[in-house]
Amino acid sequence: MFDHIAPSYDRVNRIMTLGMDQRWRRKLLAQLCIHPGDVVLDLATGTGDFAQMVREVAGQVVALDFSRGMLLAARQRRIQNVALVQGDGVRLPLPSGSIDVAVSGFALRNFSSIPPVLAELARVVKPGGRIGLLEVDRPRSRLVRLGHATYFERIVPVLGGLLSHDRNAYNYLPKSAIYLPEERELVRMLQNAGFERIQKGRPMFGAIQSLRAVRA
Ligand SMILES: C[S@@+](CC[C@H](N)C(=O)[O-])C[C@H]1O[C@@H](n2cnc3c(N)ncnc32)[C@H](O)[C@@H]1O
Repeated sequence: MFDHIAPSYDRVNRIMTLGMDQRWRRKLLAQLCIHPGDVVLDLATGTGDFAQMVREVAGQVVALDFSRGMLLAARQRRIQNVALVQGDGVRLPLPSGSIDVAVSGFALRNFSSIPPVLAELARVVKPGGRIGLLEVDRPRSRLVRLGHATYFERIVPVLGGLLSHDRNAYNYLPKSAIYLPEERELVRMLQNAGFERIQKGRPMFGAIQSLRAVRA
């Protein structure tokens, strides 16, 4: 599915979020305080949005994804000093403690199980290292939830389907969000994996979650 939607992925994202997805990424990166010498992992990099931004502040970037199509789209950006790696989040081809900061955008709901991926992140991120995760969320206000449900469950599948010519992929988007754990459960998963000082931002009236944590 990701191979198939890769060529139109960026355009669809920009249109569906009115360009705000880039703002959420940039804000999360600023909060992670990345230093020029840091080695940063962009897990499930897709077409490399996060990786390209990270490259502006970090020395080395590893951008990993299991979709060849997505990685080919990322390669077209011709970002210097970014290692594009095809791999699986549950078996990262990286030595333990080799990463200073790991980020991942809109991927949690796509992993068949989240705890093994968090365990892998905990293995490769060095003690004191940080992670930043962006994902969709359920707004807390009932009124916002109503508007959000209409947009996310009815408009996004049609709009995404038309723009990408892949209706199934964008029907899958709201369905995949149902699979996301509730906030308390996700925090517990992060703690069990070995992360602490967990903080959550809620951009877009809570339709998006921006999580940060530190490797214990
Ligand atoms: C919705 S896209 C997000 C792409 C990008 N991170 C962004 O912020 O737009 C989800 C990505 O997760 C990747 N993915 C899903 N499961 C994966 C896994 N187990 N290992 C590596 N990548 C995975 C998909 O190939 C896809 O590129």
